[in-house]
Amino acid sequence: MARRLTTRGFERRDVSAVFDLERATVEAAHWPRSEYERLAGSSPLALVTEKAGGAIVAFLIARRAADEVEILNLAVCGRLRRKGIASALLSRLFEKLEAAPARIYLEVRWSNKPAIAFYERHGFGCVEERRNYYRHPTEDALVLSLSKTEKI
Ligand SMILES: CC(C)(COP(=O)(O)OP(=O)(O)OC[C@H]1O[C@@H](n2cnc3c(N)ncnc32)[C@H](O)[C@@H]1OP(=O)(O)O)[C@@H](O)C(=O)NCCC(=O)NCCS
Repeated sequence: MARRLTTRGFERRDVSAVFDLERATVEAAHWPRSEYERLAGSSPLALVTEKAGGAIVAFLIARRAADEVEILNLAVCGRLRRKGIASALLSRLFEKLEAAPARIYLEVRWSNKPAIAFYERHGFGCVEERRNYYRHPTEDALVLSLSKTEKI
């Protein structure tokens, strides 16, 4: 990962910056600001990447339900992509999973080739296709999954 970047937990002071980054990232999941306010400081699986001066340049939000972890949102600001920032966020997520889940999974638009390439690089594979899952525009989803025997 680029030097002078820190990956840490998502806190209340990060809400505006994370919300702005989400809004600027077309491919990200789009949620109301109140959802970020709810998650900040309360979700152990919500992470941000911060530049030395304090600017937020990436975030990852996941949730655990019983034996599964779902990655709900992930974005890296456009000018800092392909520098290992999302990979570092994913590594930190793995570190925070004290007991290995049976699987980690996410949904992604069929057309989002960079994200699919990113997850495949980290060992995820497609386990399901959901027809017309997304709206605006309507598009199929791929469910990508990593089983614990592969990574954790
Ligand atoms: C997908 C995303 C999070 C990747 O973030 P990133 O910090 O650029 O990823 P990394 O630098 O850690 O990439 C690691 C590897 O993933 C793969 N990868 C990442 N972006 C890629 C791209 N545009 N094309 C092909 N492979 C890509 C490569 O194998 C890359 O390794 P390399 O650079 O040595 O070739 C980023 O492109 C993004 O924010 N996209 C918009 C939001 C989004 O799609 N979120 C996911 C919704 S499910």
